[in-house]
Amino acid sequence: MELPDPDETSRRDYLRSLVAVGGTAALSACLDLTGDESGSGVPTGDPVERPARQHAWNDALGTDDDGNPRPPEHHVLVPLSLTTTPDADASDTVEAAFQSLERAYAHDPAGLLFTVGYSPAYFAQVSSEKPIPAPEAITTLESPEFDEFDAVVHFASDKAAVVMEAEQALLGETDEPNGVEMDATLEGVFERAEPRRTGFVGPGLPAEHTGLDGVPDSVPEEAPFFMGFRSGFAESQAPEERVTIQDGPYAGGTTMHVESLTLQLQTWFEQDNHFQRVSKIYSPEHGEEELAGDVGEKLGTSTGVAGEIAERTEQDARERGMVGHAQKAARARDDNGTPPLLRRDFNTVDNEVPGVHFLSLQRSIDEFVRVRQAMAGEDLAGEGVGQRLNNGILQYIFVRRRGNFLLPPREDRALLEA
Ligand code: HEM
Repeated sequence: MELPDPDETSRRDYLRSLVAVGGTAALSACLDLTGDESGSGVPTGDPVERPARQHAWNDALGTDDDGNPRPPEHHVLVPLSLTTTPDADASDTVEAAFQSLERAYAHDPAGLLFTVGYSPAYFAQVSSEKPIPAPEAITTLESPEFDEFDAVVHFASDKAAVVMEAEQALLGETDEPNGVEMDATLEGVFERAEPRRTGFVGPGLPAEHTGLDGVPDSVPEEAPFFMGFRSGFAESQAPEERVTIQDGPYAGGTTMHVESLTLQLQTWFEQDNHFQRVSKIYSPEHGEEELAGDVGEKLGTSTGVAGEIAERTEQDARERGMVGHAQKAARARDDNGTPPLLRRDFNTVDNEVPGVHFLSLQRSIDEFVRVRQAMAGEDLAGEGVGQRLNNGILQYIFVRRRGNFLLPPREDRALLEA
């Protein structure tokens, strides 16, 4: 892929495009621009200070003005394939590579947050156990492709240069990330697979992409996500403990599902009005009572859909002819009101198409499936809403790809012999 032209775009968009392109030329263009060269501003780290759970990011994240955890701005999902039969030496090499990254960067959005996960294809090669199922289509509206590579690393940072440099250092494509020498790399054990995915989250970032086909000028200036509304409120996210596997060989780990979606933003912004958008994303009550504001800024730390609004979903379908996405999904909360999924999704313009890489952590993959079916609301179709029409946001989202992964606890993350 060609490098973007810095004169044709804003600084933030240019950085985002460099992350999407990846590779050494993009990294050096990024470092030229940001000056984040060795030792200048990116904190180094100490493996000893990293938490036992790979997915324990919340304590490191900053918060927004309301106190909701603020996701890192830049994300890369790097798919990997095994190039060797795993053994103890390979495992030591992989662990040494990860620890090198932990020395190079602090466990902080100003440094690097990352996880490594293993797919069903991986377990099929190394073990007779099947700790996670192969991905499948979950709804009748989709025929996705599936992730069939062996492992994936999710890199996240507020610094574009960090996600790019960490990725390249891990694969032996650059030396001394952030000025720190790598003791080992993944070379000889893993190689890159397809598809590499990238993305971004944060107020103002989606609106920077209105130059792209499929991203209308009407994306709100301050929106953190393409569809124009805030998401990831503290109250609607599972606590990290709720998504942590409690017993067995992977206790302390979690599972990850990655659903890649493309978005039909033209229809969303140009055929629907604000009232309809608020109703379809949160609930009809949010539309009628004007509870959300322009981009959800009125909602603080909670949408308030759990409980009565979620319980009224079927009635809203019959009587109002419309149901909200969050309202439907909240039907799948635990009996005590706790949400079972920890969503760490991000926007993308991979392949120049607006979309979302919906990355979700949960104790087991079947919990994801259960919540995703509640969101699909196939039970509501024919009850006043269609399969897609007025059924939350289903008319505007298209599932392209799914993958399931197991994220072992950090001490077993170089899981080469199951
Ligand atoms: C383009 C895709 C999507 C967009 C724009 C989107 C947007 C939103 C928004 C704005 C909220 C309300 C804010 C919040 O509670 O944090 C929400 C809630 C939620 N969404 Fe999505 N979402 C998308 C896809 C999905 C998918 C694929 C799932 C999979 C199951 C999902 C599951 C949920 C859940 C579980 C909630 C919280 C419900 C509760 O309060 O318990 N979303 N989403």
